[in-house]
Formats: sequence, structure tokens, C-alpha cells
Amino acid sequence: MTALVPPDVARWQSWAAMVDDFGGPGEMHGSGHWNLEGDPVPTEAGCAAYVAMTELTSTADLDGTRVPSTYFWIADGAGGPDDDLVGFLHLRHLLNDWLLEEGGHIGYSVRPSARRRGHAGRALALGVRAAAGLGIERVLVTCDVDNEASRRTIENGGGVLEDERRGKLRFWIATAG
Ligand SMILES: CC(C)(COP(=O)(O)OP(=O)(O)OC[C@H]1O[C@@H](n2cnc3c(N)ncnc32)[C@H](O)[C@@H]1OP(=O)(O)O)[C@@H](O)C(=O)NCCC(=O)NCCS
Repeated sequence: MTALVPPDVARWQSWAAMVDDFGGPGEMHGSGHWNLEGDPVPTEAGCAAYVAMTELTSTADLDGTRVPSTYFWIADGAGGPDDDLVGFLHLRHLLNDWLLEEGGHIGYSVRPSARRRGHAGRALALGVRAAAGLGIERVLVTCDVDNEASRRTIENGGGVLEDERRGKLRFWIATAG
């Protein structure tokens, strides 16, 4: 099972293990960590800083370039407090010029040790449902042309390819579908 849970310092130990497992920011791309000052630090304080960032950016356009957004953690289970965390999902509420070209509404990453178990596909479906709850009728989801795992995740989730721009494949998913 897969659930999306809100960031919460109470889960810091699982969060820190997940950040360690990723081994660096390159493997977390797509998850909106550009809003953080620096990379996630796998400690309780690092988790607190991360959670504070997610709260700050949930409604604010901080500097005119970062739209309001919702951060989720992907949990292996029904979302209970003891579930292991297995990834990140970031839902942008609006598309600015860059998001429309390349970034899209939803980004995600799954920790290396939990890949190929369907978490990304289920998390994307939950993210699309969350977008519907915000009144977004179709979401843009993008991936690098050579990212087969992400491309298949999007296609399996009903993504319809519009085009390729600057090395990114751009898919739309109808949220009512
Ligand atoms: C992309 C990513 C999120 C996929 O996570 P995942 O939980 O392993 O994906 P799933 O298990 O839901 O699998 C989704 C599809 O991708 C396929 N897939 C997964 N890993 C794959 C790989 N390494 N190579 C080829 N296909 C792969 C699966 O087989 C499945 O397709 P299928 O059902 O048609 O067989 C994960 O690899 C990741 O975090 N990568 C690094 C960050 C990233 O690229 N994020 C996306 C940014 S756009």
C-alpha cells in the first residue's frame, strides 16, 4: 500500500533513514527541494527545518518565482504513524512559465531501496486526486526523455504526451479521469 502523508517532525527517524537512502539530492529530483536552503540533512533538526520550509511554501509565493505548493511524503502503508517513508511528492498549485515549460504540477521520487514496487504509480494517482481537490482539472507531469521509470509511471497514470521541450517529455493527466 501507498499513502501520501503531510510532513511531520514526529516521523523524523524514518525521514532521516530515507534521506540517507537517497544518498544525495540528485536522486530526489522532481520533489521540489529547490525551496530548501541547501540539501535535506538527515537529523531531527534537519527534519524540522524541512517541515518548516514545507509550511512556509504551502501558501506563499516566496520571491515571485516559487508558486504555492503542497509537500507530501510517500508512506509504505495506510498512512499510520509507524509506516516507513519511501519518497517525496510535491504538488504545485499553479504553473508559472518555468513549470509550464519543464517542471509541471507534480514531481516525485522514491528511495532506492523501495523502487520497483509500484509506489511511484500509486503516489502519482494520489497526487492527481489531491490536485482534483484543489480544483485543478488537468495536471502537467514531465520527465527527462531518458527517464524510463518516470515516463512509464506517467503513462501508466493516464498521461497524454503533448510534446518535448528542452529534453523534457510533457504529459497531461485529466484529474477527473
Ligand atoms: C522514477 C521513480 C520515482 C519510479 O519509482 P518506482 O516506485 O520504482 O516506480 P514504480 O514501481 O511505480 O514503477 C513505475 C513503472 O516504471 C517502471 N520502472 C521502474 N523502475 C524502472 C527502471 N529502473 N527502468 C525501467 N523501468 C522502470 C516499472 O516497471 C513500472 O512500469 P510498468 O508497470 O509498466 O512495468 C524512481 O525511479 C525515482 O525516484 N527515480 C529518481 C528520481 C526521479 O527520476 N523522479 C522523477 C522525476 S520526473
